[in-house]
Amino acid sequence: MVLSAEDRKLVQATWCKVAPHLDDLGGEALSRLFLCYPQTKTYFPHFNLSADSKDVHQHGLKVAKALDGAIKHLDNIRGNLAYLSDLHAYNLRVDPVNFELLAKCFHVVLAIHLGKDYSPTVILAWDKFFHCVGDVLCEKYR
Ligand code: HEM
Repeated sequence: MVLSAEDRKLVQATWCKVAPHLDDLGGEALSRLFLCYPQTKTYFPHFNLSADSKDVHQHGLKVAKALDGAIKHLDNIRGNLAYLSDLHAYNLRVDPVNFELLAKCFHVVLAIHLGKDYSPTVILAWDKFFHCVGDVLCEKYR
């Protein structure tokens, strides 16, 4: 999956709009993940996963910051997220299907924050971005 110059512009511009909420975006996406796809909770047995949990909020911030790094380096997503690729494949052994589930949750969070700015072309650009992230995080499984 390759992001066009236009896709990159759209992802970066809309991320700038939601960036003031960076602290919350990841936690909101993770809460949705655990609610909508409760099987994903099995990867976090050591976390308090209740509503408004500090664990979820703090971990969500780590995920959002990783995405932030990738968005600032859209020409080198692979290099930027390489350390997470090893971690998720070899240490955490996260089943790749879960990356798609988390991406769906991020789409909903982005839609809530962006409102009308979450246009079909923006959605497509974000969809490509999450595919790229998922590809990188899964590549060590091949
Ligand atoms: C840890 C990012 C998807 C499970 C992490 C960390 C980051 C991260 C930044 C912390 C690494 C560190 O502490 O050095 C991401 C990104 C994802 C993603 C960017 C996709 C957009 C997932 C999914 C799951 C998952 C789908 C499972 C459902 C975990 C677990 C940890 C972790 C279990 C370790 C948590 C802990 O013990 O602190 N991830 N992740 N990740 N991730 Fe992911």
